[in-house]
Amino acid sequence: MLETADDGRTWLLTGPRSGYAVHLTERDELLHLHWGPRIALADAEALAARPLPGYWPFESPLDGHEEYPVEGGPRFVRPALSVRSAERRGTEWAFEAQETEGDELRLAFRDGGLTVTLHYRMRGDVVERWVTLHNRGPAPLEVLRADSATWTLPDREGRRLSQLHGRWAAESRLVRSGLTYGEKVIGSRRGHTGHQHLPWVAVDTDATEEHGEVYGCALAWSGSWRIAVAQLPDARVQITGGAGYDDSGLLTLDAGQSYTTPVFAGLWSDAGFGGASRAWHAYQRQYVIPDADRDRPVLYNSWEATEFDISEEQQAALARRAAAIGVELFVVDDGWFGARTSDRAGLGDWTPNPDRFPGGLKPLADYVHALGMQFGIWVEPEMVNPDSDLYRAHPDWVQHQPGRRRTEFRNQLVLNLARQDVQEYLWERLDQLLSSAPVDYVKWDFNRCFTDAGWPGERYPQRLWTDHVHALYALVDRLRAAHPQVAFESCSGGGGRVDLGIMARTDQVWASDNTDPLDRLAIQHGFSQIHPARVMAAWVTDSPNTQLNGRVSSLRFRFVSAMAGVLGVGGDLAEWTEEELAEARDWVALYKEIRPVVQRGDLYRLLPPRGGLSAVQYVLGDETVVLALLQAQHHGEPVPALRLRGLDPAASYECRETGEIHRGAILLHHGLRTGLSGDLDATVVRLRRTPPA
Ligand code: DGJ
Repeated sequence: MLETADDGRTWLLTGPRSGYAVHLTERDELLHLHWGPRIALADAEALAARPLPGYWPFESPLDGHEEYPVEGGPRFVRPALSVRSAERRGTEWAFEAQETEGDELRLAFRDGGLTVTLHYRMRGDVVERWVTLHNRGPAPLEVLRADSATWTLPDREGRRLSQLHGRWAAESRLVRSGLTYGEKVIGSRRGHTGHQHLPWVAVDTDATEEHGEVYGCALAWSGSWRIAVAQLPDARVQITGGAGYDDSGLLTLDAGQSYTTPVFAGLWSDAGFGGASRAWHAYQRQYVIPDADRDRPVLYNSWEATEFDISEEQQAALARRAAAIGVELFVVDDGWFGARTSDRAGLGDWTPNPDRFPGGLKPLADYVHALGMQFGIWVEPEMVNPDSDLYRAHPDWVQHQPGRRRTEFRNQLVLNLARQDVQEYLWERLDQLLSSAPVDYVKWDFNRCFTDAGWPGERYPQRLWTDHVHALYALVDRLRAAHPQVAFESCSGGGGRVDLGIMARTDQVWASDNTDPLDRLAIQHGFSQIHPARVMAAWVTDSPNTQLNGRVSSLRFRFVSAMAGVLGVGGDLAEWTEEELAEARDWVALYKEIRPVVQRGDLYRLLPPRGGLSAVQYVLGDETVVLALLQAQHHGEPVPALRLRGLDPAASYECRETGEIHRGAILLHHGLRTGLSGDLDATVVRLRRTPPA
C-alpha cells in the first residue's frame, strides 16, 4: 500500500509487517523518515515534523538522513550519484513531480537537463528501490556513479554486519562481526557477481535465529557491483549499493538517453535471521524466480563423471542408469561441441562435435526423452577459446586493450557482449542450437573474470561493463521467449553468478563446484540466508570425493545433504554398484515425496553446521520435513534433540518414518530425537499434522 500525506511531500509504503516513509523538505531535500514496523501516515507526518539535528560547521545536518545523497553541496557522506558535464560536476536538484503507478512511487528531480527519478515499490515486506536518469540535453553527461539506493537505518547501539564471503568451491560463507566507524565495502570488480561476496548484507544489533530486528539489502545485478555499509560519525548506519565497483565512469548519456539502475532490495524483519530469510525466500518465489510454483526436477549431470571425455554412447549409458534411479532431467555438460576435447579449444563454436555426436544432439535428446527424462545441455556463451573457429574469424570480438596482452584464464577470453554483432551471433547460434534438438534445459556457465575490459574504437569503453550484463539479460530473455519450454541454470564455476538479477531469468543456480556433502553444509547455510531451496541445485557425487578433498562419506549422508535444495546426481553412475544404485533409487523416490515441502516450504535453520549436529526444517501446510546431519560425535556428548519450529503446539504430528505420534508442544519445547550417532550420519524425518488442519 502507498499513501501520500495531504502536504503532498510525505510518502508511506506499507507491507504486511513493515513500513517505509520518506519526506521532501521545502528545500527539496528528500529525507528518510522510517524503515521498520508498520506505522500510520500520521506517524510519518510526526516524524517529518521533527527537525534535523543541527550540526555546524564540521558536519552536515543532511548526512545520514537523505534518501539518495548526490555529489555536491553540504554533504560529506558517500554520494550515490556522481555526474559530470563539460562545465561542472555534481548535482543540485529541484523536485519536479511525484507519480504513482499501481504500487510504484516515483519521485522525479531535475538538475538542468538531467532528470533523476527515484523508484519505490513494496513487494511483500521487501522494498524495491532503483533510479532512472534521463538526459534531456542539450549537452552530454558522464555518469561516474549511479547507485540504486542508499538505505538508512534507525539509531541503535552496537550494530553487527552479516555478509556472505567466499572463493571458488567455498562460496557463501556467513560471517557476522561488529560494525565500527567508517565504511565496510564489499563487491566485485570482476565483471560478474563473483564467488567472493554475494551482493547481500544484513545489519542487526542483537538478533538471534528466530528473534530480533534484522535489516537486509540485496542487489539485483550480475556484473561488477559495490555495497558500502557506513557507520557515520553520529553512529547512524547507511548502506549504499549499485552497479560497478568504482566511481570512474558507468556510461555517458547523450541528449535523449536514459539509464536505469538495477534494483537494490531492502527488507526489515523483527523475526530474527530465520524470519528475514523466510521473507526473502517468499519474495523471490513470488516476485523474482520464473515459474517458482513449478517444482524443479531431479537432474543428472555428467561433468564429474566424464569431464571432457564424452561420447554419445557413453552419455546414453549414463542416461539409462540415471533413468533407472528415477532422475527426471539428464544434462550433458561441457565437451559436446566444436573441438572441445579439453579446456584448451572449442569455446565459441556451438555446434556438436561431429566425432562425438555424428547425428548432432537430437539422437541423444530423443533417446533421453524415450527414457522418460528431459534433456539438458551446457553452454558458456560469453567466452571463447583462442583456439576456435569463432576467434580465428573475429579476434576483435573479445574484450581487449589495443596493443596489450590478452590475458587468458582457463585458456579463454571474454567476448565483448556490448557489441551488437556479438549479441546477434550468440542469439543465432543459441536459437539454432535450441531449435536443432528437443532441449529442455540449459546450464549457462561463466568461467573467468574480466581482466582486459577494453573496447578499441569505442568513445566510452567503460560502458562495456554494464552493457555486457544488459546484453546477457536480453539474450537470456529473448531465448526464454523464443523457447518457453527451456529452463535455465545460472552457473559461474559454481556460485560465481548468484544474485537477484540472474535469479529473475533463470530457474535455478549452481551454488558451488564443491560437491563434498560436508563442505557443502556451510555453503548451503550461507546461501539460505537470502535465497530459497527452490533455486539451489545440489548434487550427490562420488565417494571418495574425486573433484576436491577425497572425503569418504556414505550415500545416505550425501543424499541428505543434497536434498536440502534441488536434488541432482553427479557421480559416475557407470561405477556405482547395483546396491548403490538401488539405494540411490530409494533416496530419489523419497526426495520426490518431500520435494514440494523443501522447494516451496518455509525454511527453519534448526542448528547451523558447526562440527556436530546440524539440521534444517521445512514446513508447508500440514507437512514438515527435517534433514538432520551429524558431522562427528564426541565421546560423552549426547546428540541433542532438535527443537522444531513453525508447528502448532496444540496439534499432533505423525512421523511418517516410524508411525509415532508426536505432540506439537513437545516437538517445539523438548525436541525431536533423531537417533543419529557416530560420524557423518544423517536422516530425513517427515511429519504430518494429524488430523490435518
Ligand atoms: C564449471 C562448472 O561449475 C562445472 O559444473 C562444469 O560445468 C565445468 N565448468 C565445465 O567446464
